[in-house]
Amino acid sequence: MLKKELEEKWYQFYGETDSEVIANLLDDLRTGDFAETVDLLVNKIRGAYALLIVSKRNPGEMMAVKLGSPLVFAYDTANNFYFSSDKQALSGYADKLIYLDDGDILHIKGKNYQIKANWIHISRKIEEMDIDSLEASKGNYKHFMLKEISEQPAIIKRICKGRVNFVDKTMNAEAFHGMHDEHFKKIIFVGCGTSYNAGVLWTYFMEDLAGLESSAFIASEYEYQHIHVDDETLFVFISQSGETADSISVLKLLKSRWAHTFWVVNVVWSTISHLTDYGLFTRAGAEIWVASTKAFTAQVTCVLLLALFLWQKRWLSKAKYDKVLTELERIPAMIDDILDSSEQIQHVAEKIVKYKDFFFLWRHFQVPVARESSLKFKEITYLHSEFYPSGELKHGPLALVDENYPTVLFTPNDLLFDKNISSIQEIKARKWIVVTVSDKEIADADYTIKIWTTIDEMYPFVTAVVWQLLSYYTADLLGREIDKPRNLAKSVTVK
Ligand code: G6P
Repeated sequence: MLKKELEEKWYQFYGETDSEVIANLLDDLRTGDFAETVDLLVNKIRGAYALLIVSKRNPGEMMAVKLGSPLVFAYDTANNFYFSSDKQALSGYADKLIYLDDGDILHIKGKNYQIKANWIHISRKIEEMDIDSLEASKGNYKHFMLKEISEQPAIIKRICKGRVNFVDKTMNAEAFHGMHDEHFKKIIFVGCGTSYNAGVLWTYFMEDLAGLESSAFIASEYEYQHIHVDDETLFVFISQSGETADSISVLKLLKSRWAHTFWVVNVVWSTISHLTDYGLFTRAGAEIWVASTKAFTAQVTCVLLLALFLWQKRWLSKAKYDKVLTELERIPAMIDDILDSSEQIQHVAEKIVKYKDFFFLWRHFQVPVARESSLKFKEITYLHSEFYPSGELKHGPLALVDENYPTVLFTPNDLLFDKNISSIQEIKARKWIVVTVSDKEIADADYTIKIWTTIDEMYPFVTAVVWQLLSYYTADLLGREIDKPRNLAKSVTVK
C-alpha cells in the first residue's frame, strides 16, 4: 500500500524489501527536522520493526525505533554505540546495555544519546553486560561450536543445582514456579529449529514420565492452525534466544486468548520470558554461534526435570523415578567420556566425509534426536541429510537405496534394540554403509561409536552429543565456516 502510494509519487524501487519502502517514505515525509521526520514515520508504518536510521543531512546523528522486534542498544566506556537484536552479539564490545521498549525513539548525536517516548524524555534501565569475556572467547578451542559442545556436562550440573537433590531424590518445588497447578491435562510445546526438536523429545518425556498428553508444533505453522485454548492446556514456549519472531507471534496470539503459557528460555532478558506467565531458564550461558548445541541439551534437561516434578505428583513408580534421577546424575560423566574419546568420532568423520547424502533412521526416544542430528549435520556440513523413524524405511525411503547413501542408526541397548538390529540387517542386505552409536557391539554395522549404558530416557542426551561432534568433525574436514554457516542467523527476529 505504502509502496504503491510512493510509486505514484514517482519513487523508484529496485527490490522487494520493506527497508527500501521505509527509506523512500522517510524522504517523502522529510520536514527538515530529523526527529520530527522519524516521528511521522512511526505514526505511519504498521507491523513489527526495529529500525536504525541515518540521514546524509544530519551527519553524526542516528535514530533508532522499534515495535514488536527486539532492539538492544549498548555502549562501551568510550561511548561508542552498538545495536543488535540480541545482546550476545555485543559481548566483547560493549559494557552497558539498554533494552528499548516498543515506541521508544532513541536519538544519537555524536557521543550522546537520549530516549523519548511520546515526545517526553525518559530513562530506561541500564544493565551491565553480564556475558564475561571468557564466555565470549574461544579459549583453546578451534571453534566456538566445539567449546560450546564441551560445556554441556557442566551445564547439566548447573541446571540441576537447586532444582533437584540427588542425595535424597527430591525436587525443589519452589524452582518450578507455577507448576503447582495440577489441573493441566495437556501440554503443547511450541518452538522453531533446534528448540522445536527439543519440544518433540519433550513430548516423549511428558507422556512417558509424567503421563501427560502432549504435542509439539513448529511455531511458523501453528500460527495458522485452529488452536484450541482451554483451562487444562499449558502452552510451553521453547527458545534459546527468547526472540524468535514466529514463536513470539504465536505467543501473542495465545496471550490474547488467555491461554496458560510457560517459557523455557536461555536468554534471561528476552521477549518470550517477558510475555509468558512463568517458566524455567535453561542456564546454558551465552550460546553465541549459530549451530545450537548446548542450548538443546539444556532445554532437554529442563523439561526432563519438569516431567519428573509432575511425575512425582501423579504418575509412575517411585523406583522408576529414583532410577531416572540416578542416571541423570551420571549424564555429565557420560558426556565427558564421549568428549574424551572423540578420536573414535573423528575416525568415523574421516570415513563418511566423501559421501553427499545421509539417512538418519532411529526409533522412539531417538527419533527427535535423529531430527536434531540431521539438522545439525546439514547446517554445518552443507551435506544433504534426511531423518526417518526406522519403521518408515519400507514405506518409501528404501527406493533410494544405493551404496552411496550412508545410514546412521542410533542403536542403544534400549527397548527397541532388536528392531533396530533388524533394520540394520535390512539395510546391509542392500549394501548401504551403516554407522551406529551404541553401548553394544553391532556386528553388522560398518562403524560403531561406543557410548556408556544407561536407561532408555537418558540415551538421547548422549547420542545427541555424539552427533554434534560427528557433524563438527565432518564439517571441519570439509573446511566449512563452522561458527558462521552460510545463509543462517543465530536469532531469527523477522517472520
Ligand atoms: C535459528 C537458529 C537455530 C535455532 C532457531 C530457533 O534458526 O539458527 O539454531 O534453533 O533459530 O531459535 P530460538 O532462539 O527460538 O531457540
